[in-house]
Amino acid sequence: MCGIVGYIGANAIKKTLLDGLKELEYRGYDSAGLAVMQGGKIDSFKAAGKLSALVDKTADFDPKGFAVGIAHTRWATHGKPTEINAHPHGGAHSAVVHNGIIENYQTLKNDLIANGTKFLSQTDTEVIVHLYESFLLQNKDPFKAFELTIKAIDGAYAILLIDETSPSTIFFAKKGSPLQIGEGVSGRYFASSDAPLVGVCENAIYLEDGSWGYANDREAKIFVGDAPISPRKKPLPLTKSAARKEGFRFFMEKEIYEQSKVAGETLTSRLNADSARLDELPEDFLTGVISLRLCACGTSYHAAIASSYVFERLAKIEARCEIASEFRYRDPLLRANELFVVISQSGETADTLEALKMAKKGGLKTLAICNVDNSSIAREADATILTRAGIEKGVASTKAFATQMIVLWLLALYIAQKSGAIGKDKLAQEIAALRRVPSALAIKSERHDLIRRLSKRYLHGHGFFFIGRDIFYPLALEGALKLKEISYLHAEGYPAGEMKHGPIALADSELFTIALTSETLLKEKTRSNVEELIARDSTLLAIGGDRFALADDHLPIDERDHPILEFFEMTTVIQLLALEIAVRLGNDVDMPRNLAKSVTVE
Ligand code: F6R
Repeated sequence: MCGIVGYIGANAIKKTLLDGLKELEYRGYDSAGLAVMQGGKIDSFKAAGKLSALVDKTADFDPKGFAVGIAHTRWATHGKPTEINAHPHGGAHSAVVHNGIIENYQTLKNDLIANGTKFLSQTDTEVIVHLYESFLLQNKDPFKAFELTIKAIDGAYAILLIDETSPSTIFFAKKGSPLQIGEGVSGRYFASSDAPLVGVCENAIYLEDGSWGYANDREAKIFVGDAPISPRKKPLPLTKSAARKEGFRFFMEKEIYEQSKVAGETLTSRLNADSARLDELPEDFLTGVISLRLCACGTSYHAAIASSYVFERLAKIEARCEIASEFRYRDPLLRANELFVVISQSGETADTLEALKMAKKGGLKTLAICNVDNSSIAREADATILTRAGIEKGVASTKAFATQMIVLWLLALYIAQKSGAIGKDKLAQEIAALRRVPSALAIKSERHDLIRRLSKRYLHGHGFFFIGRDIFYPLALEGALKLKEISYLHAEGYPAGEMKHGPIALADSELFTIALTSETLLKEKTRSNVEELIARDSTLLAIGGDRFALADDHLPIDERDHPILEFFEMTTVIQLLALEIAVRLGNDVDMPRNLAKSVTVE
């Protein structure tokens, strides 16, 4: 969601900025822009729509030699995704890009308008540049003017600002939205995630909340509050190869196929012969913990719900699930002996991050299950278990979900071992099953072919119900989310046993039921629920072991002796089904409309 790139150096600045934005495309956006300052003059370009529109707009712009530049992909929050609202926003002599939301922008805007400032856009961002210029008018010192600007704004932000009166400088500030600075042989870079920096910088500084400062060709000066700081640099991966499509049509497809491999990485050194190992957790980390609060958004929330069944079943520990955006504002009761577990692929989701901070403030011990090391959530939590899925570029989350589930299952076993809630034999069976996860996640080409063929029958209708019971209910939620995200068809996930309490009223031949029919958990109960829908003529696609005599379609699952392995195999099936339906509908699978990869606004 919103991407920021900045560059100070002499290496083909337009290409550097556009390449950086390209790397951030996966975050989701609906307009883009860049501004380049050379010889004390700023040139600014913006375009609504995809980056190719900005490439066209800048076709005749060819700055050479040393320059300073800022660039942005915008995901609209205040004002429509038009060219006028795209960043950078300019004043008389400066330009700004911003990720986040300025909460007090209306008051600031009113004051500026009262003093004669003219606004062009409907964005909250534009106040930053006018505020800066008005402070500069008063005290003539750009650094001071920027400091006063940062002190005047409330909300979440990552900001880069350039000014013709400081021709080799980028001013920056970070609070609540990610921003990092990289140093490479060809100059100094800014970005809102590692992706644009990998391959051009060896290491990066991950700015802490409250950081601000300036950078030029000689130095980067960082302050927190009024005090200068010298933050540690952290090494970046050396190559971008992990971020290419490698022959797949979409990143999402590549990532679905990758699940088997990354599952192996998630498990590496976390399984002993007959126990689970989590070296990230200090020996006494669970001391005094009597229950779990699992908190997340979207797909990560579905992993939370699925794992809550596993925690209670295997570790005999209470596990309650929270949607982060609800948790934040409902004055939740927090108990000191609860472990607060946040689950996040990006580690930057604003609602999850704030929920985590609330829990910490409330005195709870906190644990993050996260895919991005050094992300805000990973840094904030008391301990972090990394999911090791690698960069996930498809906006619709796939391999992150599978690896989250593996880590949560490991955690359940780890807790069970510590508390003695699990017997030796049962533990050995679970460890043996965990070792089989990579094979349960492997995609068979005949399976994919069958899904591709079946998908043509599911392109219309008045809606989809994904149904399942027990851990297959949260998987049904995830199946429905995947489908609606990329196909734009209406889909709901429901507990199979709950259909008769209302939704079954919708059943007819144009209602598509996708039933997750487990062989290992509540088989007969689920089948009865499905029969009820068949009896009302709903069109049925059953995903699971044994075929229903009256199912319209059937996608068989090979795993039949452990529920979580069935769960993983079904995961790949629902992901591929969503993908193939979306492909047939001609949608951009990797960048679905209206969605962003990293949701850094609340
Ligand atoms: C769905 C999806 C979103 C994210 C949600 C949380 O495919 O990607 O629902 O799961 O925005 O994001 P993270 O896990 O980064 O906190």
